Amino acid sequence: MSHPSETEQAERRFIFLTTFYVALRNARTFERNSATAQQSIAHLHEALSRIHRYEGIAALRRSANFLTLNGVRLKVSLSGLDIYHFLLNEMKSLGLGGISIEPGIDLAELEDAVYLLSRFKAEAQDALPLLGEECQRMGVTHVILEPYRASEADSRGTPKAQAAGAYHRSVEAVRKAWNGASRGLALDVRSVKRAIHETVEMALHDDFYLRSLSNNLRDYDEYTFTHSVNVSLLSISFAMYLGAPKRALGDLGVAALLHDIGKLSVPQEALRAERPLTESEWHLMRRHPIEGALALLRSPGISKAAIDSMAVALEHHRGVEGAGYPTVKGYGKSTIFGMIVSIVDCYDALRTPRPYRPRSINPVEAFRVMLAEAGSKFDPLLLRRFIEFQGFFPVGSFVVLNDGRAAIVCAQSGALDTVDRPTVRIAPSEGEGILVNLAQQGSESDLHIVKLRRQPQSQTEVEEYVAMI
Ligand SMILES: [Fe+2]
Ligand SMILES: [Fe+2]
Repeated sequence: MSHPSETEQAERRFIFLTTFYVALRNARTFERNSATAQQSIAHLHEALSRIHRYEGIAALRRSANFLTLNGVRLKVSLSGLDIYHFLLNEMKSLGLGGISIEPGIDLAELEDAVYLLSRFKAEAQDALPLLGEECQRMGVTHVILEPYRASEADSRGTPKAQAAGAYHRSVEAVRKAWNGASRGLALDVRSVKRAIHETVEMALHDDFYLRSLSNNLRDYDEYTFTHSVNVSLLSISFAMYLGAPKRALGDLGVAALLHDIGKLSVPQEALRAERPLTESEWHLMRRHPIEGALALLRSPGISKAAIDSMAVALEHHRGVEGAGYPTVKGYGKSTIFGMIVSIVDCYDALRTPRPYRPRSINPVEAFRVMLAEAGSKFDPLLLRRFIEFQGFFPVGSFVVLNDGRAAIVCAQSGALDTVDRPTVRIAPSEGEGILVNLAQQGSESDLHIVKLRRQPQSQTEVEEYVAMI
């Protein structure tokens, strides 16, 4: 016998799918103002509210031949067969891999979304971008459409391959946003959110590979892009560690990915300078938080993600109570997202060799630099939590143990007094990949880390690293 809450969940989901199906079908036959259409939209809205209340979001996704709702595969019952195939085929014909409906959607927006989805003529190959543009034009901001990716959905691939794919798609998303904005186009926060959505789902399942990549991947020619992605992935993982709800993770991920977008207004020459910046270059550099917030303000359609991104862009260098830049009179305390991103941003910047500082700083040195500014630049409590989350040897790092064996860091101890004693996997060639929790061993063995191996320095080393984790 199934548990009552499972039965309730199954029923809630069934009602959502049924009302979605009825609303889409009715939208095809009836005009918007007809009583039948209005009633079916109202029923769908009610069913959605229940899903949102209990599950946070309604994310319908398809794989080659089945559907999932919020990550759980939908079972096909005989009575629901028509509904199931209708939704699957609708998504196939639009090239859709997923539809996520977020909380906060009102009846009017839901009606627009249903009419767009059901009446959109999917003849062209690139129907989905057109549909996305149409959603944007109509102000449908709570419905996220994801394209179908055959290779990924059909054979989900190894977790490592999925993480590497998500990493590169995030780089592409930020590159696209950046290039578009540099050509004077408005920032498309929604498409950035789509890229992050996948990452959040993956991180919630297991964030080991994403953390490994963000701790070790750096492209020195494309510093701005990989830095933005690293800050985004690490902010998501850190917020998960702090217990943030899933809904917040996506918006934080977007905001972190776009935190430096204002650097578009700083000349490349200044961004890559190996010399001290001139006074006017400094002036421009110190304006990038304002320029970022302004660029986000110009993005079409106001959404929670866009507002959070504005705050983070503006706040990430200003310090907890405004000791940094820019100075905004009467602004008060930074937002929690702003405080998280300012910590992760500074940490990633210190860990990356730059033209003016060719040597990367190890985590302990980075923490030392940051602790000196606890209270002014960083929230002291949050910084301490970050140190215990990240540890002296970050997840995914290669380390050498005192008995000479090589190992990879898998998880932190989660306590400040054992911040140097994570759980490691001894390299397979030297010990069958056994997991050892260095914080919990007998005192005689005293196995501990003596050295952090340096981060990959070139594209070849990066590829070797990815193959080895
Ligand atoms: Fe910045
Ligand atoms: Fe930054």
